[in-house]
Amino acid sequence: MAQPWSQSDIEGAIAMRGKHTNREIAERYNRSVYAVQQLFLRHGIRERRQLAGEPQTPLRRTKEPSVSHNIAARLGIPAPEEHATRKSGARVTTPSGASGTLEPMLIVPDVHRPYHSNMGWDLLMQVGRWLKPKHLFIMGDFADFYSCSSHDKDPARANRLEEELADVDEGLDDLDSLGAENKEAVEGNHENRLWRQIMQHSPSLAGLVSTEKLFKLKERGWKFTPYKRHTTLGAMHFTHDVGASGRNAAFRVLDTYQHSAVSAHAHRMQYMVEGNAVGEVKLSAMFGWLGDVDQVDYMHIAKARKDWCLGFGVGYYDPASGYSYLVPVPIVHGTCMVNGRLFRAA
Ligand SMILES: [Fe+2]
Ligand SMILES: [Fe+2]
Repeated sequence: MAQPWSQSDIEGAIAMRGKHTNREIAERYNRSVYAVQQLFLRHGIRERRQLAGEPQTPLRRTKEPSVSHNIAARLGIPAPEEHATRKSGARVTTPSGASGTLEPMLIVPDVHRPYHSNMGWDLLMQVGRWLKPKHLFIMGDFADFYSCSSHDKDPARANRLEEELADVDEGLDDLDSLGAENKEAVEGNHENRLWRQIMQHSPSLAGLVSTEKLFKLKERGWKFTPYKRHTTLGAMHFTHDVGASGRNAAFRVLDTYQHSAVSAHAHRMQYMVEGNAVGEVKLSAMFGWLGDVDQVDYMHIAKARKDWCLGFGVGYYDPASGYSYLVPVPIVHGTCMVNGRLFRAA
């Protein structure tokens, strides 16, 4: 069990805040990043503002003092709504891209280009243009790589790698046009088909040919994370899968990570939050897929229609706390809703 923080460590950590990342603070005090975030949540937000001499968040004014105001005044504590307003250090960035504390995020699940849903892609791009994400995540299986599959292939689709890659380029061009500052591509098992094929048939090409190179990710300004690895943004982990794809896939990710994680692969839309006895809270989320179910030949269509959900994810990242606030966006009969705004596929 983690040792409680000493008073001197608390003061030291708070003093480092704003000048150092949470990870650096965690390393300095031999704690997890999560423990540092929890400490700041308990102590840091108001104290940091006072230390930095920043103005307090203006309190909400009410016309008449409420009962709760009167009781709070007698007790000498902030009224509930004042307390809530002060405690929330975040200001929501408007989707127009105006500067603010929270940074918009767009999460692109399995697309399986070129066998993707044009309608789903259209909605993703409509939302992306409106949201103007600062952080953009590709969660893997962006390309289907049917040509590299070791399974029996439909001859009409086999040996079309060049066409598949041209379509991937189109998709990446679209995403690049959103202007995100932080672009992260996580590799999925379908992209990994290429690696397996090289290792089986042409191991001498290993290192020369890779997903990162074929997608020209470096030139495009994307950070690449290989299959079976994860990348992080604050407290959130992003990985394609941990080897599970059934109904309990998101639980399996949570069990594996024991920390907040976004995953993909299962093509399901699942969102669960669990805590533990010491009050830590963790999210496991997967945001569906954007493939065309009618073009799937490795799954019974009835099962795919039942289990898989067309959709994607949006959210906001708070760099002050390292928390990501994520929301699933299911696509329902050619429509989806984000932040109270309805989008319709063309
Ligand atoms: Fe996958
Ligand atoms: Fe997939």
